[in-house]
Amino acid sequence: MSGVLKRGLQKGTRMLVEEGPGYTLDWIRYHLYERYREWQLGIETAEYRGWEAANDSSPENSVYEPVCYDCLDRVLTWLDIEPDKEVFLDYGSGKGRVVTVAATYPFREVMGIELVPELVTIAENNIRKAGKQLKCNQVNILVADVVSFSVPDNVTVFFLFNPFSGEVMRKAQENIHLSLIRNPRKIRIIYMNPISSPDPFTQCEWLNEVQAIFPGWWRNMRFVVHSNRFDR
Ligand SMILES: C[S@@+](CC[C@H](N)C(=O)[O-])C[C@H]1O[C@@H](n2cnc3c(N)ncnc32)[C@H](O)[C@@H]1O
Repeated sequence: MSGVLKRGLQKGTRMLVEEGPGYTLDWIRYHLYERYREWQLGIETAEYRGWEAANDSSPENSVYEPVCYDCLDRVLTWLDIEPDKEVFLDYGSGKGRVVTVAATYPFREVMGIELVPELVTIAENNIRKAGKQLKCNQVNILVADVVSFSVPDNVTVFFLFNPFSGEVMRKAQENIHLSLIRNPRKIRIIYMNPISSPDPFTQCEWLNEVQAIFPGWWRNMRFVVHSNRFDR
Protein backbone atom coordinates (compact mmCIF):
# COMPACT_ATOMS: atom_id res chain seq x y z
CA MET A 1 0.00 0.00 0.00
CA SER A 2 1.45 3.39 -0.94
CA GLY A 3 2.39 5.85 1.81
CA VAL A 4 -0.17 8.43 0.63
CA LEU A 5 -3.01 5.90 0.61
CA LYS A 6 -2.00 4.59 4.03
CA ARG A 7 -1.89 8.09 5.53
CA GLY A 8 -5.25 8.90 3.90
CA LEU A 9 -6.86 5.78 5.38
CA GLN A 10 -5.45 6.53 8.83
CA LYS A 11 -6.73 10.12 8.67
CA GLY A 12 -10.13 8.97 7.36
CA THR A 13 -10.54 6.42 10.16
CA ARG A 14 -9.58 8.99 12.81
CA MET A 15 -12.05 11.46 11.31
CA LEU A 16 -14.85 8.90 11.23
CA VAL A 17 -14.40 8.29 14.96
CA GLU A 18 -13.95 11.95 15.95
CA GLU A 19 -16.26 13.82 13.52
CA GLY A 20 -18.81 11.23 12.35
CA PRO A 21 -19.81 9.84 8.93
CA GLY A 22 -21.31 13.05 7.35
CA TYR A 23 -18.15 15.08 7.85
CA THR A 24 -15.92 12.19 6.72
CA LEU A 25 -17.94 11.67 3.52
CA ASP A 26 -17.61 15.39 2.66
CA TRP A 27 -13.85 15.12 3.20
CA ILE A 28 -13.57 12.05 0.93
CA ARG A 29 -15.78 13.65 -1.74
CA TYR A 30 -13.70 16.84 -1.62
CA HIS A 31 -10.36 15.03 -2.01
CA LEU A 32 -11.55 12.68 -4.75
CA TYR A 33 -12.90 15.61 -6.77
CA GLU A 34 -9.64 17.56 -6.27
CA ARG A 35 -7.59 14.63 -7.65
CA TYR A 36 -10.05 14.01 -10.50
CA ARG A 37 -9.94 17.63 -11.75
CA GLU A 38 -6.14 17.79 -11.59
CA TRP A 39 -5.96 14.58 -13.64
CA GLN A 40 -8.63 15.80 -16.09
CA LEU A 41 -6.90 19.14 -16.72
CA GLY A 42 -3.43 17.55 -16.66
CA ILE A 43 -2.10 20.17 -14.25
CA GLU A 44 -0.39 20.18 -10.84
CA THR A 45 -1.57 22.89 -8.49
CA ALA A 46 -2.25 21.06 -5.22
CA GLU A 47 0.17 22.35 -2.61
CA TYR A 48 0.32 24.49 0.48
CA ARG A 49 3.36 26.81 0.45
CA GLY A 50 5.00 28.15 3.57
CA TRP A 51 6.18 31.69 4.11
CA GLU A 52 9.60 30.87 2.65
CA ALA A 53 7.94 31.04 -0.78
CA ALA A 54 7.27 34.73 -0.38
CA ASN A 55 10.57 35.95 1.07
CA ASP A 56 10.21 39.70 1.49
CA SER A 57 6.47 39.56 1.59
CA SER A 58 4.42 41.45 4.14
CA PRO A 59 2.31 39.44 6.64
CA GLU A 60 -0.75 40.86 4.86
CA ASN A 61 0.08 38.75 1.77
CA SER A 62 -1.27 35.19 2.01
CA VAL A 63 0.86 32.19 1.11
CA TYR A 64 -0.03 29.85 -1.72
CA GLU A 65 -2.93 27.48 -1.32
CA PRO A 66 -5.25 26.64 -4.21
CA VAL A 67 -8.97 27.21 -4.05
CA CYS A 68 -11.14 24.07 -4.04
CA TYR A 69 -12.30 22.88 -7.45
CA ASP A 70 -15.90 22.18 -6.42
CA CYS A 71 -16.65 25.81 -5.56
CA LEU A 72 -14.61 27.13 -8.47
CA ASP A 73 -16.51 24.99 -10.99
CA ARG A 74 -19.90 25.89 -9.56
CA VAL A 75 -19.30 29.62 -9.38
CA LEU A 76 -17.81 29.87 -12.90
CA THR A 77 -20.74 27.95 -14.37
CA TRP A 78 -23.20 30.10 -12.45
CA LEU A 79 -21.60 33.32 -13.80
CA ASP A 80 -23.15 32.66 -17.20
CA ILE A 81 -20.67 34.94 -18.96
CA GLU A 82 -21.24 36.66 -22.28
CA PRO A 83 -18.94 34.71 -24.66
CA ASP A 84 -15.95 36.66 -26.02
CA LYS A 85 -16.98 39.83 -24.18
CA GLU A 86 -15.86 39.35 -20.60
CA VAL A 87 -12.38 39.63 -19.12
CA PHE A 88 -11.36 37.64 -16.04
CA LEU A 89 -8.65 38.51 -13.50
CA ASP A 90 -7.38 36.29 -10.65
CA TYR A 91 -5.75 38.39 -7.94
CA GLY A 92 -2.88 36.27 -6.54
CA SER A 93 -2.97 33.54 -9.18
CA GLY A 94 -0.44 31.15 -7.59
CA LYS A 95 0.14 27.99 -9.61
CA GLY A 96 -2.63 28.92 -12.03
CA ARG A 97 -5.51 26.67 -11.00
CA VAL A 98 -8.12 29.43 -11.27
CA VAL A 99 -6.65 30.96 -14.42
CA THR A 100 -6.56 27.54 -16.13
CA VAL A 101 -10.14 26.64 -15.20
CA ALA A 102 -11.40 30.13 -16.15
CA ALA A 103 -9.74 29.72 -19.55
CA THR A 104 -11.91 26.64 -20.22
CA TYR A 105 -14.81 29.14 -20.41
CA PRO A 106 -15.27 31.50 -23.37
CA PHE A 107 -13.76 34.61 -21.78
CA ARG A 108 -12.24 37.13 -24.19
CA GLU A 109 -9.19 37.28 -21.97
CA VAL A 110 -8.02 35.64 -18.74
CA MET A 111 -5.36 37.30 -16.59
CA GLY A 112 -3.54 36.50 -13.40
CA ILE A 113 -1.36 38.65 -11.20
CA GLU A 114 1.06 37.02 -8.79
CA LEU A 115 3.79 38.26 -6.45
CA VAL A 116 6.05 35.18 -6.51
CA PRO A 117 7.89 34.72 -9.86
CA GLU A 118 8.46 30.99 -9.31
CA LEU A 119 4.71 30.42 -8.99
CA VAL A 120 4.15 32.30 -12.25
CA THR A 121 6.57 29.96 -14.06
CA ILE A 122 4.68 26.94 -12.69
CA ALA A 123 1.34 28.52 -13.66
CA GLU A 124 2.49 29.19 -17.21
CA ASN A 125 3.58 25.57 -17.47
CA ASN A 126 0.19 24.40 -16.20
CA ILE A 127 -1.62 26.57 -18.74
CA ARG A 128 0.48 25.00 -21.49
CA LYS A 129 -0.32 21.51 -20.20
CA ALA A 130 -4.09 22.16 -20.18
CA GLY A 131 -3.60 23.23 -23.83
CA LYS A 132 -6.42 22.01 -26.03
CA GLN A 133 -9.01 22.13 -23.24
CA LEU A 134 -8.86 25.94 -23.13
CA LYS A 135 -11.53 27.95 -24.90
CA CYS A 136 -9.79 31.28 -24.30
CA ASN A 137 -6.52 31.81 -26.14
CA GLN A 138 -5.57 35.09 -24.47
CA VAL A 139 -4.20 33.90 -21.12
CA ASN A 140 -1.50 35.94 -19.38
CA ILE A 141 0.03 36.08 -15.94
CA LEU A 142 1.93 39.07 -14.70
CA VAL A 143 4.53 39.09 -11.92
CA ALA A 144 3.54 42.10 -9.80
CA ASP A 145 2.39 43.29 -6.41
CA VAL A 146 -1.30 44.24 -6.48
CA VAL A 147 -0.46 47.33 -4.46
CA SER A 148 1.09 48.97 -7.51
CA PHE A 149 -1.06 47.26 -10.13
CA SER A 150 -3.25 49.46 -12.28
CA VAL A 151 -6.36 47.41 -13.07
CA PRO A 152 -7.02 47.14 -16.83
CA ASP A 153 -10.24 48.98 -17.61
CA ASN A 154 -11.82 46.03 -19.43
CA VAL A 155 -11.88 43.52 -16.53
CA THR A 156 -15.44 42.44 -15.71
CA VAL A 157 -14.86 39.48 -13.38
CA PHE A 158 -12.42 39.68 -10.45
CA PHE A 159 -11.51 36.58 -8.47
CA LEU A 160 -9.90 36.56 -5.04
CA PHE A 161 -9.27 33.47 -2.96
CA ASN A 162 -8.21 35.13 0.25
CA PRO A 163 -4.95 36.44 -1.31
CA PHE A 164 -4.18 39.33 1.05
CA SER A 165 -5.67 41.44 3.80
CA GLY A 166 -5.32 44.76 5.62
CA GLU A 167 -3.70 47.65 3.76
CA VAL A 168 -2.87 45.45 0.73
CA MET A 169 -6.55 44.57 0.34
CA ARG A 170 -7.55 48.20 0.81
CA LYS A 171 -5.17 49.26 -1.97
CA ALA A 172 -6.38 46.46 -4.28
CA GLN A 173 -9.98 47.58 -3.71
CA GLU A 174 -9.03 51.20 -4.41
CA ASN A 175 -7.39 50.14 -7.70
CA ILE A 176 -10.58 48.34 -8.77
CA HIS A 177 -12.64 51.39 -7.85
CA LEU A 178 -10.32 53.73 -9.80
CA SER A 179 -10.71 51.52 -12.86
CA LEU A 180 -14.51 51.74 -12.50
CA ILE A 181 -14.31 55.53 -12.33
CA ARG A 182 -12.17 55.61 -15.50
CA ASN A 183 -14.48 53.19 -17.29
CA PRO A 184 -17.89 52.73 -15.63
CA ARG A 185 -19.13 49.18 -16.27
CA LYS A 186 -20.82 46.19 -14.69
CA ILE A 187 -18.35 44.08 -12.72
CA ARG A 188 -18.54 41.02 -10.53
CA ILE A 189 -16.15 40.26 -7.71
CA ILE A 190 -15.90 36.67 -6.54
CA TYR A 191 -14.41 36.58 -3.08
CA MET A 192 -13.69 33.50 -1.05
CA ASN A 193 -12.72 33.56 2.56
CA PRO A 194 -13.08 31.43 5.66
CA ILE A 195 -16.59 32.03 6.89
CA SER A 196 -15.34 33.34 10.22
CA SER A 197 -13.47 36.33 8.75
CA PRO A 198 -15.33 39.52 7.90
CA ASP A 199 -15.72 39.97 4.14
CA PRO A 200 -13.84 43.18 3.25
CA PHE A 201 -15.99 43.84 0.15
CA THR A 202 -19.11 44.41 2.21
CA GLN A 203 -17.54 47.74 3.24
CA CYS A 204 -17.20 49.08 -0.34
CA GLU A 205 -20.07 51.47 -0.94
CA TRP A 206 -19.47 51.29 -4.73
CA LEU A 207 -20.40 47.60 -4.60
CA ASN A 208 -24.03 47.43 -3.69
CA GLU A 209 -25.24 43.92 -4.34
CA VAL A 210 -24.41 40.50 -3.06
CA GLN A 211 -25.50 38.39 -6.02
CA ALA A 212 -24.90 34.92 -4.63
CA ILE A 213 -23.24 32.87 -1.94
CA PHE A 214 -21.71 29.45 -2.64
CA PRO A 215 -20.85 27.30 0.36
CA GLY A 216 -18.01 24.80 -0.26
CA TRP A 217 -18.24 21.08 0.38
CA TRP A 218 -15.40 21.14 2.80
CA ARG A 219 -14.28 23.23 5.76
CA ASN A 220 -15.87 26.61 6.42
CA MET A 221 -15.23 27.98 2.95
CA ARG A 222 -17.65 29.97 0.83
CA PHE A 223 -17.69 32.27 -2.17
CA VAL A 224 -19.52 35.57 -2.13
CA VAL A 225 -20.27 37.23 -5.47
CA HIS A 226 -20.39 41.02 -5.12
CA SER A 227 -21.58 43.28 -7.87
CA ASN A 228 -22.21 46.95 -8.63
CA ARG A 229 -25.47 48.41 -9.92
CA PHE A 230 -24.76 49.68 -13.38
CA ASP A 231 -27.36 51.32 -15.63
CA ARG A 232 -26.24 51.72 -19.22
C1 LIG B 1 -4.39 31.65 -1.27
S1 LIG B 1 -3.37 31.74 -2.74
C2 LIG B 1 -4.58 31.66 -4.04
C3 LIG B 1 -4.02 31.10 -5.35
C4 LIG B 1 -5.00 30.98 -6.52
N1 LIG B 1 -5.78 32.18 -6.70
C5 LIG B 1 -5.93 29.81 -6.32
O1 LIG B 1 -7.00 30.02 -5.77
O2 LIG B 1 -5.59 28.67 -6.68
C6 LIG B 1 -2.94 33.50 -2.70
C7 LIG B 1 -1.88 33.88 -3.71
O3 LIG B 1 -1.77 35.32 -3.69
C8 LIG B 1 -0.42 35.67 -3.86
N2 LIG B 1 -0.24 37.03 -3.30
C9 LIG B 1 -0.21 37.37 -1.99
N3 LIG B 1 -0.04 38.70 -1.85
C10 LIG B 1 0.06 39.22 -3.11
C11 LIG B 1 0.27 40.54 -3.61
N4 LIG B 1 0.41 41.58 -2.79
N5 LIG B 1 0.32 40.72 -4.96
C12 LIG B 1 0.17 39.65 -5.79
N6 LIG B 1 -0.03 38.37 -5.38
C13 LIG B 1 -0.08 38.15 -4.04
C14 LIG B 1 0.34 34.58 -3.09
O4 LIG B 1 1.70 34.49 -3.49
C15 LIG B 1 -0.49 33.35 -3.42
O5 LIG B 1 0.01 32.68 -4.55
